[in-house]
Amino acid sequence: MAVGIFFATTTGKTEDIAERLHELLSNSEPPKDLADLNDVKEFQSLDGIICGIPTWNTGADSERSGTAWDSMLEQIASLNLSGKKVALFGLGDSSTYTENFCDAMEELHSYFVKAGATMVGYVNKSNYTFDDSKSVVGDSFCGLPLDEDSESDMTDERLTKWSAQLKLEIPGL
Ligand SMILES: Cc1cc2nc3c(=O)[nH]c(=O)nc-3n(C[C@H](O)[C@H](O)[C@H](O)COP(=O)(O)O)c2cc1C
Repeated sequence: MAVGIFFATTTGKTEDIAERLHELLSNSEPPKDLADLNDVKEFQSLDGIICGIPTWNTGADSERSGTAWDSMLEQIASLNLSGKKVALFGLGDSSTYTENFCDAMEELHSYFVKAGATMVGYVNKSNYTFDDSKSVVGDSFCGLPLDEDSESDMTDERLTKWSAQLKLEIPGL
């Protein structure tokens, strides 16, 4: 079973988290910067895919990340990812951007759903303080939100807990 970690970043925080996650998930493959990915078809060769996405385009309906993910969305939707487990983590700032906390995660989520992927890694919203997020469905975020700007002291615990969750939800991790 092969599980890949992919990220895009503007100031390096999502890359840093991808590295920390890889250390916690020793069976995962080393993180790959989306900017170095030749073709998203690479996703089809994996059993599990973990993707990290920051939010930069505050309040936008589309292209919310402001990174390489934005131009890959349609290509992702055109893949056949049925039977694949996909988990997302998002980087944002729940204090300064409290109305749009980690909005980009939901956009990426919707395109993986179009590709037929089985989405895992949902996280209850109760341990976060924010006003609104497009990435909340019911009581849960559609992935793991992380806040290195205002709540970096909580990141270790959040990552450890999520890693344990993914080990149960993604075979081979
Ligand atoms: C101009 C600007 C806009 C931002 N917009 C949002 C936003 O809408 N929602 C959010 O949660 N975080 C927002 N952020 C915070 C970033 O997502 C956060 O700093 C993130 O960790 C950056 O990740 P990166 O270093 O991987 O690019 C914004 C930051 C800046 C400077």
